[in-house]
Formats: sequence, structure tokens, C-alpha cells
Amino acid sequence: MHNETLHSNDSGSATPGSAFVPPRADTSRHAAGTLLDKYGRRITYIRLSITDRCDFRCHYCMSEDMTFLPRSEVLSLEECLEIVRAFAELGVHKVRITGGEPLVRKNALWLLRQIGQVPGIRELVLTTNGSQLERFAPDLRAAGVKRINVSLDTLDPLRFHEITRTGDIAKVLRGIDTAVAAGFSRVKLNTVMMRGVNDHEFPDLVRYAMDRGVDISFIEEMPLGDIGHGRTATYFSSDEALELLGRHFTLEASDESSGGPARYWRIPGSETRVGFISPHSHNFCDTCNRVRITAKGELYPCLGHNDAVQLLPLLRAHPDDRQPLTEAIRGVMGIKPKAHDFTTQMDAPRVVRFMSMTGG
Ligand code: 5AD
Ligand code: SF4
Repeated sequence: MHNETLHSNDSGSATPGSAFVPPRADTSRHAAGTLLDKYGRRITYIRLSITDRCDFRCHYCMSEDMTFLPRSEVLSLEECLEIVRAFAELGVHKVRITGGEPLVRKNALWLLRQIGQVPGIRELVLTTNGSQLERFAPDLRAAGVKRINVSLDTLDPLRFHEITRTGDIAKVLRGIDTAVAAGFSRVKLNTVMMRGVNDHEFPDLVRYAMDRGVDISFIEEMPLGDIGHGRTATYFSSDEALELLGRHFTLEASDESSGGPARYWRIPGSETRVGFISPHSHNFCDTCNRVRITAKGELYPCLGHNDAVQLLPLLRAHPDDRQPLTEAIRGVMGIKPKAHDFTTQMDAPRVVRFMSMTGG
């Protein structure tokens, strides 16, 4: 079932909306160097997945035997860079590199160094599973990566191995310590909440974050990709997590926002911010400032919809001309939906993509 999903992506024909031809940009809405969608939201942030591959197989993210894209269907690193440059010219100043696991992509560091030098890009950040951080953290910092998010759902080695199917927690924990020592302006842990799997560990995970002066966000599981089992039974809401943690810590609401679906709380006397990410809430759609690009060059204006524009054929048809790419990006502003379409029907994947395709 999962492979079917991926195969249909492979053929490039079955993703709903993949044949979508972007409308001509209504240039009146686009001052040079600005991307405005039709609801007046300004897009300043892109999330770029540089590989669909990963060395882990987390239950909520992947099926056990995934079929990954052939190399020819994945953006080259040069193509990734060209996309970033085009967006930077249109006023984007923040780039998050994701995957799959971005650090399993060969020469990922080269790309990060290049992006770190693109004029206009003020914030280069990375999401990683931490498995390669011990090796890469200092180089990432030197490349200009400001902040990193590391996935960590449990502190228990056995449970970690169960959730990730392949992962070694000791390596990840060493990676996190290396990252903290490397001096990123912020390290954040991401914990996907799963009832009966890791909910009893939430206070320990917060304490672990406090001990290292890093942030932690608790994420509601999203219905992305058919992972071969339901999600309703393990669904755990942000509200319930906040209530649970409130019994262990003093949490003070903070008005910090990244324009995304996270709300942050501070613990007095600690550096640590505790975030709750509720993708099921529509509240954040009004301030959405981002779009996503998959490893195969699909530009998705919204995580919760299947409409996308294919950038890869454009890049390959016009290797020396940025204009068609820029036009396509502007055109996508016309199809960015007002709000996402997740439902609480967690067992029916509304969005057929895997998170490893779209990037977290
Ligand atoms: N729902 C919520 N979070 C997910 N992640 C991967 N798949 C899902 C999903 N279906 C998380 C990863 C990582 C972040 C980028 O997204 O654990 O922390
Ligand atoms: Fe890999 Fe992240 Fe997906 Fe886990 S959640 S399989 S670490 S991409």
C-alpha cells in the first residue's frame, strides 16, 4: 500500500494536482522581491527536502519497506541551490533543510555552505534525526546553519529502537551533545506524541531539554502517508500534553511565534522553551509564511493539500534561465489555500504523501 503510494509519485502522474499548470502570476500583487498570496500572506520561508531517504524507519513516518526515488528524479544539489536563489530574489529569507534525513544526502554540507552565502538568506536552519550529528555538527555550524531541530521521541533505548525500527539512541544523544557544544543559537528537540508509547516520558524529556538548555516541541501526529496502521489509538493532543506537563512544571505562556502551528511556553529559571505543535488547529493558517519543496522538486503551497507545481522539469528545460522558475513560484501564490484540510479522521490519510517526501 505504501509502495503504491510512492510508485504513483514515482510516475509523476497520480499525485492529485500534479498536472496542475500554474496560472500566470497576477503581477499587480507582486512587488519585486515579494511573494504575496491571494489572501495577503507574505511568503518568507521555504522548507526544502533534499532527500526522501532516511537511515531510520519511524513508524509514524514510513512503512517498513519503503521504495525510494531513483536518483534521476531527485533534485540535484545544484538544482536545490538554484531554487533557493530564486526564492531569495523573491524575498524569502529563511530556509529550512529537511528530508527524509538531510544528512544522509551525499555532499549535503556543500549545499548548506552555498545556501549560507546566498544574498538575502538570513536564517539557514536544519531538521535532522540526529544520527549523523556527532560527525557533522561543527561543520554545520561553520557552514552558517543557525539552528537545528532534532527528533527525539523517547529517552529509552529499546523504545527508541522500536519507534525508529533501526536507530541507535546513544548515537543520537551524543549527536545532541555535540550540537549543543557546537554553539548553535538554538537547538530544539521535536517529540511526536504517541499515547501509550511515549506519553509517560514527556516530563523526563522536558527535564532532559532543561539540563542542556535546549528547547523542546511536542508534535501532534499528522495523517501524512499511508503507514500501514491507524493513528487514532495513539493520537495525543497538545492540550492534553500541556495539562500533563503543567502538573510537573510552571509553564508561562510566551507570545513567540514563527508563523507556524507552534505555541511556546517558558519555564521560569530555565532557558528551555516548551512548544506544542497542533497541526489540527486552523489558527495558524492565517499567518502562514511558508511553502515546501519536496526532494523531487514539487512545490507545495500547503502541507495539508495535494496541489503542487513541478519545478524539476522546469529547471531541466531551462538550465540557464531563472525566469520560468520565478514565474512558476509566483504562480503558486495563486493556489495557496486559505487553510489546510487535516481532519481528526486519523486513520484515513487525507494527504497521500509521506512526511519524508515533503519534509517536516
Ligand atoms: N506526524 C507528526 N510528525 C511527524 N514527523 C514525521 N512524520 C510525522 C507525522 N506523521 C516528525 C518527525 C520530525 C519532524 C520533522 O516531523 O519526527 O521530528
Ligand atoms: Fe527518518 Fe524523520 Fe521519518 Fe523518522 S521521522 S523515518 S527520522 S525522516
